[in-house]
Amino acid sequence: MTFSDSSIVVDGVSKCFQIFDKPGDRLRQMFHRKRKFFREFWALRDISFRIAPGETVGIVGRNGSGKSTLLQMICGTLATTTGNIQVKGRVGALLELGSGFNPEFTGRENVYMSAAILGLSREETAHRFDDIVAFADLAEFIDQPVKTYSSGMAVRLAFAVQSQIDPDILIVDEALAVGDARFQAKCFDRLKRLKESGTSILLVTHSSDQIVNHCTRAILLDSGRLVMEDEPRAVVNRYMDLLFGRDREAAEKSAPELIVSGTTEHGTDRLPLSLSDDVFAQKAAYNHHEYRWGDGAASILDFSLEADGRPDPRFVTSGQIMRLRLSVRFNQEVVRPIFGVTIKTKEGITVAGTNSELLSSEVHTHGLGAGGSAVVVEMNFKCTLATGDYFISLGVASRAEESIVPHDRRYDAVHFSVAPALTFYGLTDLDMTMAVSQVHAS
Ligand SMILES: Nc1ncnc2c1ncn2[C@@H]1O[C@H](COP(=O)(O)OP(=O)(O)OP(=O)(O)O)[C@@H](O)[C@H]1O
Ligand SMILES: [Mg+2]
Repeated sequence: MTFSDSSIVVDGVSKCFQIFDKPGDRLRQMFHRKRKFFREFWALRDISFRIAPGETVGIVGRNGSGKSTLLQMICGTLATTTGNIQVKGRVGALLELGSGFNPEFTGRENVYMSAAILGLSREETAHRFDDIVAFADLAEFIDQPVKTYSSGMAVRLAFAVQSQIDPDILIVDEALAVGDARFQAKCFDRLKRLKESGTSILLVTHSSDQIVNHCTRAILLDSGRLVMEDEPRAVVNRYMDLLFGRDREAAEKSAPELIVSGTTEHGTDRLPLSLSDDVFAQKAAYNHHEYRWGDGAASILDFSLEADGRPDPRFVTSGQIMRLRLSVRFNQEVVRPIFGVTIKTKEGITVAGTNSELLSSEVHTHGLGAGGSAVVVEMNFKCTLATGDYFISLGVASRAEESIVPHDRRYDAVHFSVAPALTFYGLTDLDMTMAVSQVHAS
């Protein structure tokens, strides 16, 4: 890509904010040229990349990593401290801070004002007006002041304006998260069409699905630095690693040194699990933000996750058979232990959960649960989940008369991602079949 082929060129851009700790310091600074009343904070450092016409580039990163700051500089609403940004053509933008509408004016007036800011004449706007209102699905409300709109309605109108003006570049910062699912689908359909007509799109989102599904490339920012620029899935994986505090390289290096004492009865083709030390933290799929509690009579020490026999899957495909194994050591005698598992979405919705008692699994073998003994629990299930991120909680407990005594519960301890599915949408694959037969209507 040559310089002139790019629609956005970001070249060595840094941004430094001046932080005034006391409110009066900003004023004091105006009168003192020599003394510094502020601290410097570098929100972005030395960022360079280019975007070609028709590319959709996703920007991911943790909260505060500098995504919105970068987009504001590309839109020209914020100045760079060092470096240069060049943009070619008309820029439509939906930034993080509201719709940019004046709340006192009606939807209609705001559409004309926004379009004027984007360089459209009154006639050009009038020509597109009906399409904009139809897209936003706000015909009934278009002559009401925007202050009476819900935040979702305001975003709908803003997206409709920004996407119907045939922008050369469209910048969307998180805005689509506000709309409902139906509107989101409509937005992505519109984005696809813009992309086909050569619009460059910059999309900031915390949704890894949206990055994988809609972007041609992705950029990962961390602490104001560009740490990765690659195809979407690779970037999303790295982002997940950052988000869940995983250090895959360290995990991969230390894996061969896993301490394994004793053997499992499950044969040699299985990955060995630690039976003496807690090695969760060394595992790639471990979520460092797990919540752990229990009386310590038993400890869950290790786990392994496989999809169709492939260990440590970065993405599971819907339909694959997942095998989850854990090793549990009993520190005291536990009578009739119960092993449990729960799978939740990243929003915390329980997708499924069960335990060895509900499943009437054979776990009451002689001597099992005595202090110092260890077991391996294996679970197999078909992953019928839709694309997204999931967390597995694990537990070992026992029954004391009517109540359950938790010995070790590790909430959200294991993370896995399901790849976008091709044959269904929604929450789960119901393995639906469909047949169409021709009938002759008389
Ligand atoms: N006007 C400002 N003055 C001082 N610091 C700022 C200002 N704007 C942003 N920052 C700081 O710059 C850093 C990057 O902020 P930015 O809003 O770009 O993050 P982000 O990646 O968009 O985060 P999020 O995912 O939460 O939207 C943050 O530490 C933030 O506190
Ligand atoms: Mg932001």
